[in-house]
Amino acid sequence: MQTNPHEPNIASFYHLTGRAVADSPCQGMACFAARHLDPDRWHTAQTQAARIYCLGKCYAAPAAGGDTRRPGIEIHAAQPVVLKRVVAGGARTVQSYTGHGGYTALAQALRTAPDAIVQAIEHSGLRGRGGAGFPTGRKWRAVFQASGDEKFVVANADEGDPGAYIDRFIMEDDPHALIEALVIAGYAVGASKACIYLRSEYPEARIILKQALADARQQGYLGENILDSRFSFDIELIIGQGSYICGEETALLNSIEGRRPEVRVRPPYPTESGLFDKPTLIDNVETLAAIPWIVQHGAEAYRTLGFSNSRGTKLVSLNSLFNRPGLYEIEFGMPVRHIVEQLGGGLKTGKLKGVIIGGPLAGMIPPQLLDTPFGHEELHAIGAAVGHGGVVVFDEHTSIAALIHHIFSFGAYESCGKCTPCRLGSRRIEQIFEKPLQTGKAPAIEKAEWEEIVAALAHTSLCGLGTGLAEFAHSIERYYTQELTACFA
Ligand SMILES: Cc1cc2nc3c(=O)[nH]c(=O)nc-3n(C[C@H](O)[C@H](O)[C@H](O)COP(=O)(O)O)c2cc1C
Ligand code: SF4
Repeated sequence: MQTNPHEPNIASFYHLTGRAVADSPCQGMACFAARHLDPDRWHTAQTQAARIYCLGKCYAAPAAGGDTRRPGIEIHAAQPVVLKRVVAGGARTVQSYTGHGGYTALAQALRTAPDAIVQAIEHSGLRGRGGAGFPTGRKWRAVFQASGDEKFVVANADEGDPGAYIDRFIMEDDPHALIEALVIAGYAVGASKACIYLRSEYPEARIILKQALADARQQGYLGENILDSRFSFDIELIIGQGSYICGEETALLNSIEGRRPEVRVRPPYPTESGLFDKPTLIDNVETLAAIPWIVQHGAEAYRTLGFSNSRGTKLVSLNSLFNRPGLYEIEFGMPVRHIVEQLGGGLKTGKLKGVIIGGPLAGMIPPQLLDTPFGHEELHAIGAAVGHGGVVVFDEHTSIAALIHHIFSFGAYESCGKCTPCRLGSRRIEQIFEKPLQTGKAPAIEKAEWEEIVAALAHTSLCGLGTGLAEFAHSIERYYTQELTACFA
């Protein structure tokens, strides 16, 4: 891919250009939630030159780059769709992957008409795992139908949501599942090139994917005439430079093109005019990882897993405040209480204050709503979300003022700057909550200001960063009213 020569100085937009995460401590939401477990590390995290919002080690939070501990990994679904090889110790080489039946779905797909593959994905009920939960088949259909001599596929491997380490383990332990899925996707929608946009905070995944791509090319799973078919396809690995907004699909496209990674106004949607204005399919890593299984086992088998309009399995990653933090493959429909109390085994250091699922841009679930089933519409109905599936619990060490301050500080730091309420309003809310955080009270007038900014974020934001901040704020107004009111004089 080429970069845009008209914007040569765009590197200063990013937080980690030219910086390796190395041993740096993290200040993502899971590390914030567990800051009382290691106050010194948390202090270092907050005072380093560039902030690091999530290293994908939330099970060991507060974490640092050099941490090599691994989480518990378990399957709690009738059938493992994504974690089967990961739970068995991983399949990093082509040999181990094919030993587990890998690349047979690709061979099968290449004998099938592209339209029939798209139809199977539509019928499976698979929805995007990157956050929005959009029906994957519908997106594949749009790119399949788009006219154009050139189309692209992009794997969104930016996994920026603090609290999530789902894609990280897929890429590190099962890299060929992602490669196989991308080749199938390219064949189905009529693309000849893909790229994986990987965040720089995952240096191990970078090394493993680079090797896996070289091995796949050498074994004939990538390149010209794949498996002696007439289909040719290749994948490029592109590394981010530390910017949460680059996980948003249109900012991501701008980043690949070398432009300022601002969110694009839609329409046109990427399916119609995406990377370099060509029809582009953008899917999250976990979404893609389910594709070989669906091709092999059939859409109907996939549909039988899950419940309601949320079919199949979902990976959830639990933070270090749980007694059993780890990565779990579950079926949709499991009550949040089961995730918190059975899988996670309850909290380590005190009473549950609330749960945030799917990153900081989502509502907090209070203890009285734990019986809500884990499903897109069901969580949406209580102002929460499935999101990408990071599950972060907070105990009573975290006050509402501290939480609001942390989340809006994150929002302000990561805003792309295109919408004023997000660029300036989130910074203002961060300032408003500095006083209650230091045991004083914010002036009463600032409560009205908070409400105005939250309303502006909800109604005028171009992307989910701004609207997500508002969703979080609404959940605090709704479920933590007393503690919020007490922040003001
Ligand atoms: C602020 C913001 C950040 C996002 N970050 C990610 C991310 O890190 N990874 C991801 O897969 N999707 C992310 N998304 C969602 C993508 O825009 C897009 O919906 C997703 O890549 C589509 O793939 P899917 O349909 O497979 O989920 C983000 C969205 C927003 C608004
Ligand atoms: S809501 Fe924020 S991050 Fe999203 S487009 Fe607007 S300014 Fe950019």
